[in-house]
Amino acid sequence: MLDIQKIRADFPILSEKIRGKQLVYLDNGASTQKPKVLIEAEQYFYEHQYANIHRGVHYLSQIGTDLYEASRKTVQQFINAKHDHEIIFTKGTTNSINLVAYTFGRKFIQARDEIVVTEMEHHSNIVPWQILCEEKGCILKVIPLQKDGTILLEDAARLITSKTKLVSVVYVSNALGTINPIQELIALAHSKGAKIMIDAAQAIQHIPIDVQALDCDLLAFSAHKLYGPTGVGILYGKEDILNAMPPFEGGGDMIENVSFAKTTFNALPFKFEAGTPHISGCISMSVAIKYIQDLGLQKIMEYEHSLLEYATERLNAINGLTIYGTAKDKSSVISFLLEGIHPYDVGVLLDNQGIAIRTGHHCAQPVMEYFNIPGTCRASFALYNTKEEVDVLVEGILRAKKMLS
Ligand code: ALA
Repeated sequence: MLDIQKIRADFPILSEKIRGKQLVYLDNGASTQKPKVLIEAEQYFYEHQYANIHRGVHYLSQIGTDLYEASRKTVQQFINAKHDHEIIFTKGTTNSINLVAYTFGRKFIQARDEIVVTEMEHHSNIVPWQILCEEKGCILKVIPLQKDGTILLEDAARLITSKTKLVSVVYVSNALGTINPIQELIALAHSKGAKIMIDAAQAIQHIPIDVQALDCDLLAFSAHKLYGPTGVGILYGKEDILNAMPPFEGGGDMIENVSFAKTTFNALPFKFEAGTPHISGCISMSVAIKYIQDLGLQKIMEYEHSLLEYATERLNAINGLTIYGTAKDKSSVISFLLEGIHPYDVGVLLDNQGIAIRTGHHCAQPVMEYFNIPGTCRASFALYNTKEEVDVLVEGILRAKKMLS
């Protein structure tokens, strides 16, 4: 069993008062809060160890480089990648997906080739492909949503064909919480000779991921949803695929030799890491990973599931409240609407009570279009949330309902 009160004490912000009320932070889908160990690690690095990496022979540069590369190994081990050079540090999930669109996409996807996504994708897994399709004349195919917020494998099997070059799908929907049948989608893509990328932005903090067992080709996630720093993300790719992809950005560190006659590129992972990275963030990301590894992701998943079940039951009991996303396999996200009330108004009234949720389309406008709604109120839970906080949310919703009806 996780000791939630002990865990809460590790996150200083959770004891903040917001507008005079105890903070109830339920916007973890947007970003998670940071444990003290991470904040201290960043401070220690800047106070005692900071210098640029991969450049200097001096002591501090060596230390920074060692910590940075050790962090890469921590990420490798966390997702069980075969090699540490299959781990590319990026700015975040969006940046990782764009990297693939600009490199894999430009090299391997031609006119009339097909890319397959689902209707529940975040904009960051739609727009890069639309830009590519505009440029290259390739075609974006969409696996449709069902009323419960799932997709059908029959639809996926119909849409993933020998014309498909890449399937790029979200593991867990940020707007609905749906956990997609990722293993089956990977098998389907491979059976047609297509590569598959997984957007794991909303999965990595909730579900243990083993990229070798999954056999996915590419996988993207961000540190900031994993109790880590903002501005850091990961692109995992199988060695042969990353080696075949051309570089993304040109600049320092990604080259082997530069001359005006011919420039040659560095080996993996540096080929994709041009310029000075977010050094402190890349390093502190490993502190966040170790923090959740010590607690155990399996235990976290079970605890969050119990919170989801409790919250679903309590919210379903509110008259006039509809939950969007009712899949059997769901992560700890509840998107809801109160009949006749705009989600923004609910969000503002909850905020007045110290309760932080996200309102709007959650960067997934096609999902809102499918349900024909302007947006939703979204409560998303993390390992430090409690049933008592769910009760506060329910009280807050009832109060908002009374004021707005
Ligand atoms: N993609 C993040 C969310 O769902 C920001 O809120």
